Amino acid sequence: MTAQTQLSVRTPRWNYEKLENRFWFRGNPHLSHLIHALSFLFPPGEETFVRSVQRFRGAISEPCLSADIDAFIAQESLHGAQHRRLNLWLSQRIPEAEQYCEAIAASIRADFKRVDQRFPKLNLAITVAFEHMTAIAATALLERPEIVDSIEEPLRSLLIWHAIEEIEHRSVAFDVYQTVSGSYPLRMLAMVFACIMLVSQTLRYQMKLLARDGQLGNWRSLREALHLTCGPNGYFRALLKPFLSYGRASFHPSQACQSVSIEAWQRRMQELD
Ligand SMILES: [Fe+2]
Ligand SMILES: [Fe+2]
Repeated sequence: MTAQTQLSVRTPRWNYEKLENRFWFRGNPHLSHLIHALSFLFPPGEETFVRSVQRFRGAISEPCLSADIDAFIAQESLHGAQHRRLNLWLSQRIPEAEQYCEAIAASIRADFKRVDQRFPKLNLAITVAFEHMTAIAATALLERPEIVDSIEEPLRSLLIWHAIEEIEHRSVAFDVYQTVSGSYPLRMLAMVFACIMLVSQTLRYQMKLLARDGQLGNWRSLREALHLTCGPNGYFRALLKPFLSYGRASFHPSQACQSVSIEAWQRRMQELD
């Protein structure tokens, strides 16, 4: 009997051309360009996540995990494709965006290839680290419907969809890693690399986009973005505790992200269609 996965692969059809305002996140340039910078990272990043897991596909004999790997690959490939479409939409408005995407993709692919030749388990551990960060970031977003509601369509649907699937498949790369390595020091080291890469690249391209749009000195936008992310009920503050839980030797991703109802958000997404 073939094992079934609990993960659902959804195929969205959104028309980004309907989106006129490139500051679609509360009309705020800092917040919108933060997500654009992340969107530049997603296609090559998710491509490396898939490749790092595929590298160890042959070592997995557990039928349920094998089925989950197939669904994980399908979900991440679709995420990359949708973010590529969003990046194309942005490139039609900011021509430099295309060049930024190409530079990021070349750098991520070169890093992956270098590590893959000698330390493929490190690449897998880096994927595990990113999967934890995307799952807790997705949870913190869906825990704040007021933030979700302030995002214009179809970007709201895109972010809900991506968040749902990141939460759904949060354990897959980790379970593969535990099967083929399970090393705690390597998992911690990989988290350090992943954080440095994520923060440096995201800030770098967010600043480039803001400078290109003449918005670097927009203090109102910066104040609102800081309040929403680092203020008393700030988005980044909510990430701290689940982020630190990764340091426990007994950590498993299934213990995190329990506060969000995937079914409820799926219904909400169907209403938005
Ligand atoms: Fe993804
Ligand atoms: Fe993911």
